[in-house]
Amino acid sequence: MAFWRRFLQRDEGEGLAACTALDVGTEFAKALVFEIEPSGQGVVRGVGRKRQGLAHMQSGTVADIAAVVDNCSVALQEAEEMAGFRPSQVVIGIAGELVKGFTTSHSQERKRPDTPITDAELQRLIDGVQREALRDAERAITWETGLPNVDVRLVHAAVTGASIDGYAVTNPVGFQGRHVNISIFNAFAPLVHLGALQSVASQLDLELLAIVAEPYAVARVLGGEQVQKAGALFIDVGGGTTDVALVRQGGIEGTRMFALGGRAFTKSLADRLDLPFSRAEQVKIDYSRGLPVDDARTVEGVLSEDTAVWAAGVELVLEELAGGDLLPGRVYVCGGGSRLAHLVKALRDERFAKRLPFSRPPEVTIMEPGEIEAIVDTTKLLVDQQDVTPLGLAYQAIEMSSQEQPLDAALRRVLRAMKV
Ligand SMILES: Nc1ncnc2c1ncn2[C@@H]1O[C@H](COP(=O)(O)OP(=O)(O)OP(=O)(O)O)[C@@H](O)[C@H]1O
Ligand SMILES: [Mg+2]
Repeated sequence: MAFWRRFLQRDEGEGLAACTALDVGTEFAKALVFEIEPSGQGVVRGVGRKRQGLAHMQSGTVADIAAVVDNCSVALQEAEEMAGFRPSQVVIGIAGELVKGFTTSHSQERKRPDTPITDAELQRLIDGVQREALRDAERAITWETGLPNVDVRLVHAAVTGASIDGYAVTNPVGFQGRHVNISIFNAFAPLVHLGALQSVASQLDLELLAIVAEPYAVARVLGGEQVQKAGALFIDVGGGTTDVALVRQGGIEGTRMFALGGRAFTKSLADRLDLPFSRAEQVKIDYSRGLPVDDARTVEGVLSEDTAVWAAGVELVLEELAGGDLLPGRVYVCGGGSRLAHLVKALRDERFAKRLPFSRPPEVTIMEPGEIEAIVDTTKLLVDQQDVTPLGLAYQAIEMSSQEQPLDAALRRVLRAMKV
């Protein structure tokens, strides 16, 4: 696991001056070249995009490494030429149905509450959380693939909260108390899937700084205290998948993905109108922009039918994520697929909210690159919700390069010992 090794051995406090973010999407490979100022502000200097072929990706995962490398290198080159330099490190996003992201909380009752918590005790606690999480992920992936021994790897881990006797702390070491609680977000993926992204990075001659779960990146990017505290749902509708993240009680609780995105709408149009894929794509985009298209009635019918299927998928995922508790009152939407107005309309429909545990109909907002305060775009080419996911990946590089929290350092030590 070369990249983990590199990530784990990162010198504490070592800054990162420039980096590339690569979003290997089902529909588009997207690259951003950006700088990180000493203040922690990100500055995008170059962007590039290349459409992927129909057989290059399968629901958010790489299906043809060589073809994907070619597409990424076109996107990268465009971004690098615009920026005028080439960073040596890259952050890559991982998505797809078999990426399992969830937060595991572990509480422990201490036998001697009057003694302060030590580093070793904290590490034992984190170790317990991580082992439990790995078992859960293996169970979930084994069950879904129907294969008994899928090699599952940890791709991403972050501490999302800690408390002692209900009192929130950023670092439990040194505190006294009886009940310690730690929450850690982990994303796991099958090795084959992770390995494909590692190959892409190495064939592009880039050093892999980290692989980041895309819904996690999207859910973090708005950053505002208020969003994180009040909770929110984040929905990224891509070409091949829809990724959902739930932020509740100050931290990411879980992420879910299902294999339905904008491409499915295009395929239905292609079938019904008997058009090649690229023509059907144009019809969809024209129609969604309000331009005149042939046979508009049929187009509307197909898009509405597919929207109903998509909304049912979102409903299922949200029900599962809610886990019997209330869902937050805010929904943030991004991804190119959500440029089809039908989707946002479906989320705003009262009947949709009624079927789910919302206390009131949620406020549905389309995310804009301009709202991301931590990153400025000097290229002026990042204009809409389709560019939010790559910006989220860039933001993860910034978060990682900033001063590390003591809890994350402890987590890193445990992971090193677990050799995951
Ligand atoms: N104006 C538009 N109207 C409707 N759909 C659009 C529009 N612009 C882009 N799309 C759709 O957005 C989708 C691509 O979005 P995006 O770039 O976010 O996907 P991706 O990241 O490549 O895929 P994934 O996240 O599923 O791996 C395509 O299906 C495309 O048809
Ligand atoms: Mg995407």
